[in-house]
Amino acid sequence: MSRTPIIAANWKMNMGPKEAKDFLAALKNELSCECKAVDKVIVPPFVTIPAVMDTLNGCTCLGVGAQDVSDRDNGAFTGEISTTMLNELGCKYVVVGHSERRQYHGETNAYINRKIKKALAAGITPIYCIGETLAQREAGELETVLSTQVVEGLEGLTPEQVGGLVIAYEPVWAIGTGKTASAADAQAAHAFIRSVVEKTFGAEAAAAVRLQYGGSVKPANAKELMSQPDIDGALVGGAALKADSFAAIIKAAL
Ligand code: 13P
Repeated sequence: MSRTPIIAANWKMNMGPKEAKDFLAALKNELSCECKAVDKVIVPPFVTIPAVMDTLNGCTCLGVGAQDVSDRDNGAFTGEISTTMLNELGCKYVVVGHSERRQYHGETNAYINRKIKKALAAGITPIYCIGETLAQREAGELETVLSTQVVEGLEGLTPEQVGGLVIAYEPVWAIGTGKTASAADAQAAHAFIRSVVEKTFGAEAAAAVRLQYGGSVKPANAKELMSQPDIDGALVGGAALKADSFAAIIKAAL
């Protein structure tokens, strides 16, 4: 099965509305709307999403996502953002389970699973982040960690739902450190993740689910990473804050 590559810019806590508008104007100069062979997604901070939508003005060549979502519908949950609100803004994607949220906000697989279910119920595609820490990798726990994150994070989903997901493999030691997993190591982890999806949800779901690599992706390493058979795109942090380097990564996926 051929899977459309998906490149997403996770801006994290960067880029207010004004910077985002400047970024999009610069990106427009770098990319033509015709390059439909790659799904391109911007994931701004919540407060920047309306400015991004205004600037896109209905253009669907860029998808927009949120960086997180509540596992509740509405009510007294200070600081939370619901799927209804994301839908109202026009968000098509939501990042869930990023390692920074696991690390700094204590998010567990069970909690992330509830968010994934909420997003799916609202018609929003989750980008589900998984990945091991350096200590876990060095202790030989890579496969146990990844399979637990896949099985617990996706618990209760149908094979069709899993096939429509994006799973981002982001080794924690590679995020923001300049250290990228070698293409061979990244491919091995992606193949393993796909095998766990196959064992748990069947061959069709495994063939359809898109797996992104994340962790110090930059123009110089994007092509080699994305030419691996089980790597279907990238979730990009630092290198997605500049339009020229984000555009170069998108072009590497073509
Ligand atoms: P960097 O590309 O800055 O390493 O960040 C990766 C990431 O965490 C994307 O979600």
